[in-house]
Amino acid sequence: MKTEFSAGHARMGPVAVLGAGTIGAGWAAFFALSGLEVRVVDPAPGAAASVAAMMARARTPMARLGLLSADETQPCVTADLTAALQAVVHVQEVLPEDLLLKQRLYAEVEAAAPADAIIASSSSGLLPSQLQEGMRHPGRLLVAHPCNPPYLMPLVELVAGRNTTEATMLEAQVFYRALGKKTVRLRREVPGHLANRLQAALWREAVHLVAEGYASVEDVDQVITEGLGARWAVCGPHEIFHLSGGAQGMAGFLDRLKPAVASWWDDLGSPELDAATCRKLIAGMEHAAKGRSVAQLDARRDWRMLPILAAKMATDAPAPDGSNGQMS
Ligand SMILES: NC(=O)c1ccc[n+]([C@@H]2O[C@H](COP(=O)([O-])OP(=O)(O)OC[C@H]3O[C@@H](n4cnc5c(N)ncnc54)[C@H](O)[C@@H]3O)[C@@H](O)[C@H]2O)c1
Repeated sequence: MKTEFSAGHARMGPVAVLGAGTIGAGWAAFFALSGLEVRVVDPAPGAAASVAAMMARARTPMARLGLLSADETQPCVTADLTAALQAVVHVQEVLPEDLLLKQRLYAEVEAAAPADAIIASSSSGLLPSQLQEGMRHPGRLLVAHPCNPPYLMPLVELVAGRNTTEATMLEAQVFYRALGKKTVRLRREVPGHLANRLQAALWREAVHLVAEGYASVEDVDQVITEGLGARWAVCGPHEIFHLSGGAQGMAGFLDRLKPAVASWWDDLGSPELDAATCRKLIAGMEHAAKGRSVAQLDARRDWRMLPILAAKMATDAPAPDGSNGQMS
């Protein structure tokens, strides 16, 4: 098992992953296949099997992207929190999205982990200021929110709470970047951080369009996968409109299309997730899945994402002549 090595200012020593569900097992596989010593804590009877299955699932995609360490480790899965926290430098908390459950666990973590271990919550939307309430050393807690699956998606959103220290934020940033992640640090905490707020805004309209019968679940999803999504892999929503505005960019876009955008905003839906809408979404997704199980769709997503991520990694890397993105 690997012990401690350093990258920049980050201490890349033993990592504890608390929770072995969808995201916890994904983080555990990512850290272990990146060469870190990993202790996973989850009292659920199937935890070890989930982590083993996730290791098998993550290895090939990580290898294809050149992310597999020659020093890959095997996570140790245990229900013994105190033993798992010995000498760790980083704790990735991946418990269910339940504030009180997470807060209760932090009290146990603080009693057993080294005083200088970072505590990073994977929470999809809780505020770090709430998470750190009641902690003895709240300065060491931040939110480090991944996208699913954590072993493939580069993004980690970093969010400070009221009491998070700057040293914690910097150390977390160096830690995730040393593992190849792309970190985005929020200027202020907000429920749902950035990714889930943007996702929720888009999904609200997608549900409205299906609920009101403008399009099927399959058609709405296809507009993203065949249209907007491919562009979003290289340009964010602001840059896309900047590129629609002629030589004046965003100023030109706003000049020409401000009234149209304002009228579309006025017309956006605000659907209820009532029983009828839920039935439509479930039936629509079942039809779109064409008999494939969730596990089959998961594997298909990873397989189809690989060349996209590989191309991004290749084009993001500085070209030897510094000509990235330049037309010659
Ligand atoms: N599912 C997603 O797409 C996604 C993406 C990013 C972040 N997140 C966040 O990650 C966290 C976990 O989400 P998930 O989808 O993996 O949940 P999940 O329900 O799949 O997994 C939670 C795991 O925590 C374990 N657990 C419960 N109490 C525990 C305890 N006291 N000690 C150790 N383990 C315990 C459970 O046995 C379970 O295996 C949430 O905060 C969620 O918001 C989820």
